[in-house]
Amino acid sequence: MEERLVSSDAHREDVSLEYSLRPKFLHEYIGQDGVKDNLKVFIEAAKMRGETLDHVLLYGPPGLGKTTLATIIANEMGGNIRTTAGPAIERPGDLAAILTSLEPGDVLFIDEIHRLQRSVEEVLYPAMEDYCLDIVIGKGQTARSVRIDLPPFTLVGATTRAGALSAPLRDRFGVLSRLEYYAPAQLAQIVKRTADILEVGIEEEAAFEIARRSRGTPRIANRLLRRVRDFAQVRGDGTITFALAQEALELLQVDRLGLDHIDHKLLKAIMEKFMGGPVGLDTIAATIGEEAQTIEDVYEPYLLQIGFLQRTSRGRIVTSLAYEHFGMEVPEK
Ligand code: ADE
Repeated sequence: MEERLVSSDAHREDVSLEYSLRPKFLHEYIGQDGVKDNLKVFIEAAKMRGETLDHVLLYGPPGLGKTTLATIIANEMGGNIRTTAGPAIERPGDLAAILTSLEPGDVLFIDEIHRLQRSVEEVLYPAMEDYCLDIVIGKGQTARSVRIDLPPFTLVGATTRAGALSAPLRDRFGVLSRLEYYAPAQLAQIVKRTADILEVGIEEEAAFEIARRSRGTPRIANRLLRRVRDFAQVRGDGTITFALAQEALELLQVDRLGLDHIDHKLLKAIMEKFMGGPVGLDTIAATIGEEAQTIEDVYEPYLLQIGFLQRTSRGRIVTSLAYEHFGMEVPEK
């Protein structure tokens, strides 16, 4: 699969830059107001009581700031953050090693927590509930269980698929927060904040133009900003004007709504070859030469979210909104 400019997954370039651009405290964090307001209360209450914060589950689409929020929680609580991911913890012993090395008040961040092995998950239950580990030493007749106390810590779990989490694990989180796609005005604020840190001038309207084309996702907004900055440096005087942003985004083949050539190929195939559908996923996959799973996981979610595509029991349908976007007539059926 080719790497898309508008993919919400982290590219290699994002990873190092994101760290330096990320807000470190809640007051610097733009958007997700509901989540932020709640966390502010829970953090303050825990601090007043001199306790660690309850375990937090953050869920929602990729690129919306789950890792950033985990870091902020650690900073606000005055602890350190240990970061790992579900697939990286292969055996129960791996998790035990991490847990026993925590300091009191630390945040343990587990990304993609829905991908933990069952056997690893079971180590997590007593750790979350009672801050302890139950370890079996020896085999057969001489086997005995030893209980090891852990320092009080906060688990922050992140997942794009809350539904894929087992019920016992989900039930052990005291705080469940869903992150939403950002509105263009919030994304524009994030773009301006990042431009400030990168020391590049940007017009208000240019920030909005980048925001509108970023699929509600800060990671994409910041990536588009960096590419547009390249154009401003080479083709302009370094300042990102509205005209320059528009021109650069056209050249980058990101359209007014943040759709790229792959989105266009998918929508146009259904409109031009199947009269707008309904058409089955496998047929679409064969027509455009992509895997059905990739279409479902990667290409479709945003098109569904903006109402360009609908899923029905008889297959996918392109909506009149999509026809309008391409300046095409909705076919009579
Ligand atoms: N950079 C990326 N996401 C951000 C956010 N939500 N607030 C501020 N800066 C950000």
